[in-house]
Amino acid sequence: MTLLTDTTSVDLTKPVGTELHGVVLTELDEAGIDELKTLIADRGVLFFRDQRMTLAEQVEIGRRLGELHVHPAAKAPEGFPEVLVVHTDENSTYTAGNGWHTDVSCDERPPGLSMLRLEETPSAGGDTVWASMYAAYEALSPSMQEYLLTLTAIHSGDKAYVGRYSRRGADVDYPVNVHPVIRTHPIGGRKALYVNSGFTVRIKELTQRESDALLAFLFDHIAYGIRFQVRFNWEPNSVAIWDNRCVQHHASWDYFPETRSGFRVTTRGEAPFLTA
Ligand code: SIN
Repeated sequence: MTLLTDTTSVDLTKPVGTELHGVVLTELDEAGIDELKTLIADRGVLFFRDQRMTLAEQVEIGRRLGELHVHPAAKAPEGFPEVLVVHTDENSTYTAGNGWHTDVSCDERPPGLSMLRLEETPSAGGDTVWASMYAAYEALSPSMQEYLLTLTAIHSGDKAYVGRYSRRGADVDYPVNVHPVIRTHPIGGRKALYVNSGFTVRIKELTQRESDALLAFLFDHIAYGIRFQVRFNWEPNSVAIWDNRCVQHHASWDYFPETRSGFRVTTRGEAPFLTA
């Protein structure tokens, strides 16, 4: 099964997010996987319904999408080191992704694609919102765009993980890395804003106060940019695959004390780069 020939698709908003109908992810051939990667780089996030699969099958699809990433902080299920459990219930004091972020941007080679499949969803709510970082960049004035091209930012795992994950003790050194504030997507060459409130702590070339002010502005630009966001309402066996190089996302924890549960596999991307 190749993807585009056997599929109908609906763009959920103009800048970001497409829902595909008629795809069985476990049956995609190599051409279909290649088409998928190209389409995600363009649309930022793709949505699929009714995708029944085992955890092993999900991991296999992840492997076909790229080298798999192992989360630096979360505990993986037995036998599946590359799987992130996304589970929230009445006993949870924290839920993954409940704030604007790009997955694990503190890594030297941060995630490329993330594939989340939910098995259990609440009776209402539990949506996830994605924002296009191409559109966020393009919505800035030419002068601001030009200025941001000259900057790099520090991304720290401490900001996201300390006190939230228990796989490792308090004395762990989570990754800290510097990435360009604007990055070039390796497929298609578009420029995307690459700072996020989950991990980015400082613009390296600025004083602390200047950095705080600029980051606050950029985080607001992303959070309030409803014209470049898309919201997805999950059902059991829905899958979203997104490209962390060009979108950020925010899960909505508005269903307490109900349960929302699933699994994420994530590919390793390249070290972010900016080309002229
Ligand atoms: C995540 O950040 O990967 C979790 C997103 C979600 O639960 O919707």
